[in-house]
Amino acid sequence: MAGHESGIAFLLNGTPVRVTDEPPTRTLLDWLRERRGLCGTKEACREGDCGACTVMLTDADGSRAMNACLMFLPQLQGKAVRTVEGLSGPAAEPHPVQSAMVTHHGSQCGFCTPGFVVSMAVAHLNGDTAHDDALAGNLCRCTGYAPVVRAARAAESAPVPAWMREDASFILAQVPRGSGGSAPGAFHPATADQLADWYAAHPEAVLVAGATDVGLWVTKGLRDLAPVAFLGGITDLARFVPQGDSLRIGAGVTIAALRAAMQTPHPAFAELLRRFASAQVRNAATLGGNIANGSPIGDTPPALIALGARLHLRRGPDRREMPLEDFFLDYRRQDRRPGEFVEAVTIPASAPALRCYKVSKRFDQDISAVCAGFNVTVEAGQVTAARLAFGGMAGIPKRAASAEAALLGREWSEATLRDAAGALTGDFAPLNDMRASAGYRMRAAQGLLRRYFHDLAGQPVSVLEVRP
Ligand SMILES: Cc1cc2nc3c(=O)[nH]c(=O)nc-3n(C[C@H](O)[C@H](O)[C@H](O)COP(=O)(O)OP(=O)(O)OC[C@H]3O[C@@H](n4cnc5c(N)ncnc54)[C@H](O)[C@@H]3O)c2cc1C
Ligand code: FES
Ligand code: FES
Repeated sequence: MAGHESGIAFLLNGTPVRVTDEPPTRTLLDWLRERRGLCGTKEACREGDCGACTVMLTDADGSRAMNACLMFLPQLQGKAVRTVEGLSGPAAEPHPVQSAMVTHHGSQCGFCTPGFVVSMAVAHLNGDTAHDDALAGNLCRCTGYAPVVRAARAAESAPVPAWMREDASFILAQVPRGSGGSAPGAFHPATADQLADWYAAHPEAVLVAGATDVGLWVTKGLRDLAPVAFLGGITDLARFVPQGDSLRIGAGVTIAALRAAMQTPHPAFAELLRRFASAQVRNAATLGGNIANGSPIGDTPPALIALGARLHLRRGPDRREMPLEDFFLDYRRQDRRPGEFVEAVTIPASAPALRCYKVSKRFDQDISAVCAGFNVTVEAGQVTAARLAFGGMAGIPKRAASAEAALLGREWSEATLRDAAGALTGDFAPLNDMRASAGYRMRAAQGLLRRYFHDLAGQPVSVLEVRP
């Protein structure tokens, strides 16, 4: 089987390449610019914030925009990547979004433009007309967004150029998986079983899922990571499995896939995930990474804890599970043993009272100052169960035990919610930092409880719903 040929094999702008002489933490951005002279992919923040380095990635799951600065070369195994240089046709005909950018004056200094046109070309290919969403991860300092969005709209009706569809037929069966590796020190498990065996034997290793956190350890922290396991090829970690009244979600599910899957069972969670970073980051970032990193301001834990999620951990053949809130012990300290990894999360298939709120300085592409997930059961006018979970209010994502106690057994009314809001001061002593002051955080959290009451009563509570 050709599967043990070494190197990283992928399609670059329609041409197969095999990279054999790079460390496993070489970013696609550095490789494109320094080794291939493809400098259209711009380098700016190197931390996923600006979209100047956006490329198109295609595999069996479709085509999506990704940040090349936070993608290590081994993550490209068996996939196709298209840079801005690959957007025009064989006779140098411009892509329709490129022509529209010219017609609609979508570019001034031009530094951000390659990233914008790649994001626009991906949306155009996928028939995605939610332009504000698709472009939220691309920053422009001089033109402003209105001409860019006008250009994206103008290109909507143009047919997708044939060359943009070619990547989808690329299937690289000989990609090394399992026992093989793309580079010394890199392991590419194809199944959760393979990962379990290998990680139990190499508990000092770094697991790389979407690399939206780990990438920064390299680009900003200048860390060497070895040994390292790339989890992106583990298909059985990236599944949704309905189990009676619950849904098991694999740790490798991306935030983009999670958002799509939550639209029907948990629309409030889906809406929260719309505000998770940007399209490029959501396309890479995984649920497992968002939990395992133990961040106090990760956006999925408050919603999951409010849902009563159970976390599934695995080390070698041994599995255990726990309520998600019990996993977070202290600031950046979790109940995870050496060689143990997050395998899945189970949530109820339905929770009509779930609501999620994110408070951040910007609507898109911003980390939460406060994030909340609320799920209260009211029967015959009385509160019979309450789960109130917050991020950004403590060193860990945490339930508000005193506020929950102030609700239980009481009449569901604005006055009861006011009491619960008062009890939050017994639950949290939030921090002052650059995102928000302690006082702001507490007042915002208390306000969110009032908002929840009005939200469940069917009143518009989001700035997007309130119209003059
Ligand atoms: C520009 C930008 C914006 C962001 N915005 C947000 C935001 O709005 N909200 C938010 O919550 N986060 C945000 N993040 C943070 C980040 O995207 C998330 O935490 C993401 O979910 C991490 O997932 P990943 O797959 O990229 O993890 P990785 O970077 O691959 O890994 C993160 C950590 O988890 C470990 N890990 C990964 N998978 C597993 C597993 N299965 N078992 C055990 N350990 C594992 C890794 O070893 C590492 O320690 C942002 C990041 C960037 C760069
Ligand atoms: S360089 Fe800014 S997102 Fe990659
Ligand atoms: S055109 Fe100058 S940064 Fe966008």
